[in-house]
Amino acid sequence: MAKSSEESPSRRTFMTVVIGLISAIVGVAVTVPILGVVLSPLFKKRDIVWIELGSTSDLQKIAPLTPKFVPVYFRVKEGWSVNTLPRQVVVVKDINGNFYFFSNQCTHLGCPLHWIPARQKFLCPCHGGMFNVLGKVVGGPPPRPLYEWVHKIEKDTVFIQNKFLNNPKERGI
Ligand code: FES
Repeated sequence: MAKSSEESPSRRTFMTVVIGLISAIVGVAVTVPILGVVLSPLFKKRDIVWIELGSTSDLQKIAPLTPKFVPVYFRVKEGWSVNTLPRQVVVVKDINGNFYFFSNQCTHLGCPLHWIPARQKFLCPCHGGMFNVLGKVVGGPPPRPLYEWVHKIEKDTVFIQNKFLNNPKERGI
């Protein structure tokens, strides 16, 4: 009859493999959730926040059909950090006193627009895109009118969100 010590190497090998497999499964089960918690901020969308643009009484002082470029700074959480996003709001008052809050970003490839008073147009320096004062495309390659910032008026204050109207993406800009 063979001694038990002669059977033990294969049995020991088997046990080692089983214990190794169990250790690996437990390791993965513990590590994956931790990695998920640690890495998930990297895949999160940019926050959407409100900031104060100014008082309505100040905006009323803007001359009709004369764009006013207002710099704004959105403080948003992105991943693990909080960043400041400098943006421009182009405020336009029409002849009926309605306000528009445009982005200064060209809708072709995103270059910053300049207002040319002599031509009463926004001009894109990149490929010659042109928009009228109410944001409609009047020349060049831009495929759509100017983007408008989501905004709201509470009491006497205008608030702007880092998001465009009619933007299907639920993501901060
Ligand atoms: S980016 Fe403005 S026309 Fe191309």
